[in-house]
Amino acid sequence: MSMWNKSIGIIGTGKFLPDNIVTNKDIEKMVDTSDEWIRERTGIEERCIAPEGLNTSDMAVEAAKAAIADAGLSVDDIDCIIVATMTPDMNIPSTACLVQAKLGADKAAGFDLHIACSGYIYSLITAVSYINSGLFKNVLVIGAEIMSRVLNWKDRSTCILFGDGAGACIVSEVPEGYGMLSMDMGINGGAGMNLTIPASGVAMIPTDARAAEGLTYLHMNGPEVYKFAVRTMGKTVINALDKIHLTVEDLDFFIPHQANKRIIDSAAHRLKLPAEKVFINLPKYGNTTAASIAIALDEALHSGLIKRGDIVAMAGFGAGLSWGSLIAKWY
Ligand code: UT7
Repeated sequence: MSMWNKSIGIIGTGKFLPDNIVTNKDIEKMVDTSDEWIRERTGIEERCIAPEGLNTSDMAVEAAKAAIADAGLSVDDIDCIIVATMTPDMNIPSTACLVQAKLGADKAAGFDLHIACSGYIYSLITAVSYINSGLFKNVLVIGAEIMSRVLNWKDRSTCILFGDGAGACIVSEVPEGYGMLSMDMGINGGAGMNLTIPASGVAMIPTDARAAEGLTYLHMNGPEVYKFAVRTMGKTVINALDKIHLTVEDLDFFIPHQANKRIIDSAAHRLKLPAEKVFINLPKYGNTTAASIAIALDEALHSGLIKRGDIVAMAGFGAGLSWGSLIAKWY
């Protein structure tokens, strides 16, 4: 009942969060907002913010080390490194190359995968497909972001939402019958400008003048992205379940992208999933973009919420606009 010929799953996870915490009360001092508004409209209470000098690749390396140890592997076992990020240290070299050098993973190939909040799911699907084809054996998948450096800290509609962090996992073959069963992914580029960093590429080179206009920061049409998210999160899970003739009743656990508690609640409601089957760590971290599901998965696994044999769904959505989901029988 799997879309892939081989049984391929996640054999270890890790995470890294900066220890510098910024609460809603702290943000009250920066923009015209309130702890009450942020909690009610988003569910977020605080977020971790990377201090100067700590970069996306550094956090990715720490999460990767934890995942490699958790899987019982050594860096030499890693064949390929995929880093999902929209906040790379720099455009070139890829963050995966920086991570490879810092880890000393000399046998690994690697690249960055850039599709914002859907990046971790897209990277997992890529890793599974590589392993299924026989190209690689152990793929290190990392979601890592320093969103705080692309936020306009004068824009209350965006700066309250995001946080920094990294999550990682090792994708490998697992015993027959376990592992990834199905996936769904898609994009709607026509709606893409609802979530953009305008001056971040060759169409609009980031200059000091453009930075002064706020064009080098994240711009979001919040209500449009909200409507898209609410429509998409449940639908992509159902699409993935349909492909392997499962239904929502078969799901034991759901790990949604952590963007807004109201979006998660609404998706869970549409899927008719009870709260105890839905993982939420958003209050502590805010939206960590490509890292969000990776961190959530690590926490759900290490707190014993997911058991061997459980049918688990993961779903992400975000800039692009993009979405993706995976269904797995947990090993
Ligand atoms: O990973 C994917 C990325 N993004 C998302 O998933 C975000 C999706 N969107 C959202 O989560 C929500 O749209 C937001 C949380 C961003 C905004 O919540 P909303 O309920 O959609 O608020 P709104 O944008 O419709 O704004 C309502 C009011 C406005 O005031 P007026 O025009 O009614 O007077 C805003 O100016 O709330 C105001 N507002 C704020 N007030 C206090 C917007 N941000 C804030 C704020 N504090 N931080």
